[in-house]
Amino acid sequence: MKILVVGKGGREHALVRALAESPGNHELFCFPGSDAIFQLAKPVAADGLESLIAWMRERAIDLCVAGEESYLVKGEGLANLCRKHGIPCWGPPKESAQLEASKEFAKQFLIRNGIPTARARATDTLVQAVSAIAGEYPTVLKFDGLAAGKGVAVCPDETSALAFLDEVFTQRRFGPGRVLVEQCLTGPEVSVFAAIVDETYLIFTPARDYKRALDGDHGPNTGGMGAVASRQLVSPELLQQIENEIVRPTVAGLNKEGLPYRGFLYFGLMLTPGGPQVIEYNCRFGDPECQAVMPLVKGDLASFCLAGANGELRGDLVSFDDGWSVCVILASAGYPETSRSGDVISGLEQSGDFRVYHAGTRKNADGDWETNGGRVLAIVSGAATRPEAVAKAHAAADLIRFSGLQRRRDIGILNFD
Ligand code: AMP
Ligand code: GLY
Repeated sequence: MKILVVGKGGREHALVRALAESPGNHELFCFPGSDAIFQLAKPVAADGLESLIAWMRERAIDLCVAGEESYLVKGEGLANLCRKHGIPCWGPPKESAQLEASKEFAKQFLIRNGIPTARARATDTLVQAVSAIAGEYPTVLKFDGLAAGKGVAVCPDETSALAFLDEVFTQRRFGPGRVLVEQCLTGPEVSVFAAIVDETYLIFTPARDYKRALDGDHGPNTGGMGAVASRQLVSPELLQQIENEIVRPTVAGLNKEGLPYRGFLYFGLMLTPGGPQVIEYNCRFGDPECQAVMPLVKGDLASFCLAGANGELRGDLVSFDDGWSVCVILASAGYPETSRSGDVISGLEQSGDFRVYHAGTRKNADGDWETNGGRVLAIVSGAATRPEAVAKAHAAADLIRFSGLQRRRDIGILNFD
């Protein structure tokens, strides 16, 4: 089978590797890809969505796997264009991807379908937002659009709220758009992933990511400094409750509202004292959760995604390890405010019972790997127990060095002991 994966980060490296390890001799391609991904998947000669589709038709691609969200809502939408040209696509069409692209759309969908979520009000101006906050702190402010993970601010006080509102409404940092003023929920977070095929779904291994830059959940928000994944992350009873109150009503809602869906849907949940609530949907796998989850997936992911793209949920093609998987992110100097490129990475030649996924790296003129972005590498290891998986992943992360390297030492530990 000829498979194209769309995206370029650590998540796509993990997806490409899982597809490469699927039975069968598949020919893999990646767009736009990265030097590391190109060791497993060939690059694509395209410079945008239209030319990508033309290229896929020319090469008779059997399956397009959407890794990254942006292409789902660009132009006519990746999945929409694939459908128009008869290319099976694992990823939802533009109208359904609004669940991620518009926080307001997602909120209205949640409310219409009776799915537990925080109260929220949409606002158009700074004055409206301040009035909607009504002096109730902490409050959560969400820009209503794709903002590369920077569009949400949990504000403890008026000063921080005004600073965020100024960025959105005055500086227009994310472009035009409204702000959702949302009730602040408390509790541990968990990321649940479902592979959805029309009316059917399969829940993958749940995960938890670590969003803050520094140990102890201090410092600024990042794209994710690590993740832990295991079936044991939530009890069977809680997972059942999540399925009954959140996953199933979401799938039913999509079908009732005529929103077609074939692909991964990510449920960002807060486990509040009153039960699990949805804080966000993403129309893709999580990053870095994907890097933690993929090593636990056994079976034939490639055929699973192809069958799903063609309208058949083949749960028999995949199974999930019972153990724990821990992913430690190595980030470059300055991250998350900035990032530094060009620092040579050492230790990558070492191998062991761990996996290294590249997020922001490139090969330099000497043939060495160097940093090329904020999040540089994801080091992943697994074991039957969480402490073992933690020890293995952190020991493997110790093998890698580059100038300015930043990482957290409490991934897989904080929020468990
Ligand atoms: P999002 O981009 O919607 O996932 O939000 C980013 C992060 O902001 C989440 O992972 C939470 O840590 C936090 N967050 C979002 N919504 C809320 C909420 N209603 N209450 C408390 N924290 C929230
Ligand atoms: N780990 C958060 C995300 O993928 O959005």
